[in-house]
Amino acid sequence: MVATDKDPREEVIQAWYMDDSDADQRLPHHKEPKEFVSLDQLAKLGVLSWRLDADNPDTDPELKKIREDRGYSYMDVCEVCPEKLPNYEEKIKNFFEEHLHTDEEIRYCVAGSGYFDVRDRNEAWIRVWVKKGGMIILPAGMYHRFTLDESNYIKALRFFVGEPVWTPYNRPHDHLPARKEYIQAFLEKDVANHAVDATA
Ligand code: LAC
Ligand code: NI
Repeated sequence: MVATDKDPREEVIQAWYMDDSDADQRLPHHKEPKEFVSLDQLAKLGVLSWRLDADNPDTDPELKKIREDRGYSYMDVCEVCPEKLPNYEEKIKNFFEEHLHTDEEIRYCVAGSGYFDVRDRNEAWIRVWVKKGGMIILPAGMYHRFTLDESNYIKALRFFVGEPVWTPYNRPHDHLPARKEYIQAFLEKDVANHAVDATA
């Protein structure tokens, strides 16, 4: 790939720092001026992303390989709309409470779109917009939340290693081993790298 080529993932996954306004959570909440976050920056926080063929998830060899490599034996479909999601209002509210899980959160958007908000190392919110074809993995122990955007609809495939556990631990749950491991793996390590860079 030549340097001028755009990363194809950026057509379906975009990330930016959020403003502080408490206007409707389904609005984009860009800062003024806009402050985008690269997929590389997200990867440094442990957020992995792919662009896949959302029209053919059943036969997609790339998805098959990701599932095999990462051991995602379980898969189901989660459609977020009043007709398809039992207890819709309550779920929508809970999704937007800041929380973490003790396992990865793996979501592959095959229709619609939505916002996954994640904390950066300084606790600022980064809004990750995932559209059709975008797949993301939030690492275990990372604080995050989810909201629909103004399109008001997402259909996502969810994956899991073994029997799924969807339990959200609302913030604060800093004593959980998964939280400590996340900090060690992604926040402390990078702080150390920055310190090395600063003296270089
Ligand atoms: C979840 C997402 C919405 O926990 O964060 O399912
Ligand atoms: Ni979650």
